[in-house]
Amino acid sequence: MSEAINIGSVDDIDEGEAKVIPAAETGTGEDIAIFHAEDGNFYALNDNCTHETASLADGWIEGTEVECPIHSAKFCLKKGTALCMPATVDAQTHKVEVSGDELLLYPNVPADIEA
Ligand code: FES
Repeated sequence: MSEAINIGSVDDIDEGEAKVIPAAETGTGEDIAIFHAEDGNFYALNDNCTHETASLADGWIEGTEVECPIHSAKFCLKKGTALCMPATVDAQTHKVEVSGDELLLYPNVPADIEA
């Protein structure tokens, strides 16, 4: 199991917004986007869309889904599931924990959240 990374305060990401943790910090070789979803929870997916090249953090959060800003594929923030075309490959999830006011990211540990 990978080590947790402290990625800042819960107050750093407003509901409906996202923040990118750069690959140099995640240690996975991938940027990871942290989403503050409209259910109040935090979720993490690899930032790059699985269709082509786009930052999902720049997309639109609706409920517990994010819509890619380029061709509008949608992904489930809980499971990473690609929900519509043109994406056909699921996004990788990562576990996020709230500890007090701090956000902890576990790179490469699947979120394992019931959808
Ligand atoms: S790059 Fe995201 S849907 Fe095409």
